[in-house]
Amino acid sequence: MSATAIFIIGIAAAGLLAAAAVFVIAFRREPEAGPLVGELDREALKLDRAARRERAERAAALGEAAGGVAVLERTEEDLTGAAPVELADPLTERVEVSEAEFGVTRRMFFNRSLAGIFGIFLLQFAVAGLAFLWPKLKGGFGTPINVGSIADIRRQVLLGDGSIQPLFVAAAQAWVVPFAADDVAGSSFDGLTVPVIASDGPETGLMALWQRCVHLGCRVPECLSSQGFECPCHGSKYNFHGEYRDGPAPRNMDRFAVTATDGGDLVIDTGTVVQTARAKVTTIAYPQGPSCL
Ligand code: FES
Repeated sequence: MSATAIFIIGIAAAGLLAAAAVFVIAFRREPEAGPLVGELDREALKLDRAARRERAERAAALGEAAGGVAVLERTEEDLTGAAPVELADPLTERVEVSEAEFGVTRRMFFNRSLAGIFGIFLLQFAVAGLAFLWPKLKGGFGTPINVGSIADIRRQVLLGDGSIQPLFVAAAQAWVVPFAADDVAGSSFDGLTVPVIASDGPETGLMALWQRCVHLGCRVPECLSSQGFECPCHGSKYNFHGEYRDGPAPRNMDRFAVTATDGGDLVIDTGTVVQTARAKVTTIAYPQGPSCL
């Protein structure tokens, strides 16, 4: 599985995880907390005592004997015709409040807000990742790219005098160079899966080198006079097979897998990169002339 596919799956998984987290947090049921109770504060108690005193005085004024609650019940019934309400003692009574009456606590509000913001952030990240990768899903760098007729490319890269003129393919960010499959044996590619179009009789094979310098990623231009690639950033040098020759580069130039279509076209799979260690034995001479640096 290619790195791009793994990345896409990772992004999709993160998005699904975020959506699931938001759903679970937003719709979770709070644990049973039992009845919600509360104490009246001092001010409320003072007001309540004053009200009771006033009612008692009203009862006394009506000529009834002392005994506030009984008198009050009759008085209220007389006045309103409604059933008397038994007053709760605020000092000892706790009143149960339903969850609906109690509403959403401040802590619940902030928890859900944070979860929502986090979920939205993850969703945005997932969408941005997909948007970034969308061109690759439709083709382009990171996918197999057909770069045209193998016969034509052979003619372009291998000149009549035996010298090499690499072909730069911008869409694939690659240099196409000749490389005979017979050269693999005994080279730094021996034993590895080296992507090369097999030689066709006297015709040479082809290899696609990533234009990116393996030191710090500068674009490496060709140097026809020396017959190699020479990096202008820090001076790394490679021969025309991308084998390390000089400078701080830690390995040979990277290369892409290549295949041939039934119609004889060259396809560079820019999603499959092959890395190889610095060449101890090289398959082509370098330099063959003055350096460009
Ligand atoms: S980036 Fe090429 S030598 Fe440093």
